[in-house]
Amino acid sequence: MSRLAKLVYMAGVLSFIVSCSFTVFYGYMVLAHKPAEVKDGGIKYKYHFVLVPEEMDNEYWRLVEKGAQAAAKKYGVLLEYVGPKQANIDVHLKTIEMAAVSKVDGIMTQGLDDQFTPLINRVIEQGIPVVTVDTDTENSKRFSYIGTDNYYSGYLAGKALIADTKGHANVAIITGSFYKNHQQERVKGFKDAVKSEKGIHIIDIQESEISRVRAAEKAYQILQNHPNVNAFFGTSALDGVGIAQVVEQYKKPGQIYIISFDTLPETLEYIRKGTIQATVVQEPYEMGYGAVKLMIDLINGKKVPSIVHTDTRILRAKDLPLTRGDKAGGGK
Ligand code: BGC
Repeated sequence: MSRLAKLVYMAGVLSFIVSCSFTVFYGYMVLAHKPAEVKDGGIKYKYHFVLVPEEMDNEYWRLVEKGAQAAAKKYGVLLEYVGPKQANIDVHLKTIEMAAVSKVDGIMTQGLDDQFTPLINRVIEQGIPVVTVDTDTENSKRFSYIGTDNYYSGYLAGKALIADTKGHANVAIITGSFYKNHQQERVKGFKDAVKSEKGIHIIDIQESEISRVRAAEKAYQILQNHPNVNAFFGTSALDGVGIAQVVEQYKKPGQIYIISFDTLPETLEYIRKGTIQATVVQEPYEMGYGAVKLMIDLINGKKVPSIVHTDTRILRAKDLPLTRGDKAGGGK
């Protein structure tokens, strides 16, 4: 064999080995990254994990944290909850980077948009496992996703709206963001669910930037610009309460149908009063608890599922009061 042929042959073999061992390699990196014993306030922990949410000061994320802290306590983990106080992609990405620099044993976060994929991949290449929570970026090398099937949750909302309005509604959607994966999937699921219904028309779609105040402003503008709108769909936790606030102020009871997301105390209060007719229940507590558990399994070399979908269902006034489990978002 000529020298060149040998080189080409070697390169072929090498690229085969590289491609075959890709997954094995990253699996090994996780195992090779020995968790240091961490001391904090005199307490010894086996692992140090970080949970980076979209918005720290958000009741929904506080429930994710609550679940994660419960699991952390059980498994001897020091769990830090850090990230943007209010939704901010740059701060979110920076926090993930900082966590990686400080060589934590695992990072749990969302895969909100395309900027998250290369960062998550880089963190994993450094040997730090990443589990996505609540929002996935499937094309990254994250080990596992735990959270709602966001497309399906939007689809469920669409079907609930059809049932509750008997297939006749002029709908406005207020979404947390036009650009974030989970919000896009929820809207897509909703649109697919209603697309063959002749009597359902989507009149407008606006974004709230994960802000309750902005959701209220957008709801107000929609009512001004489209007097024929008689239904709203809010696709993130604060959208429903923002919409409800405006609808109570400017419309008579029963004039507008609202379907929201999540079971924050205020949302439940609006459901009880009849301002919001239905909401999509997610399981933030289970997401947090399960994410820590997945991380422990990963570090211990166990095989973990690449996707864990938590439960999603529709809740209406007749389903109140919530069961113990729902209240805590899991009640563990
Ligand atoms: C979403 C979270 C989001 C929150 C915003 C929830 O419905 O699942 O990702 O941060 O709404 O309020």
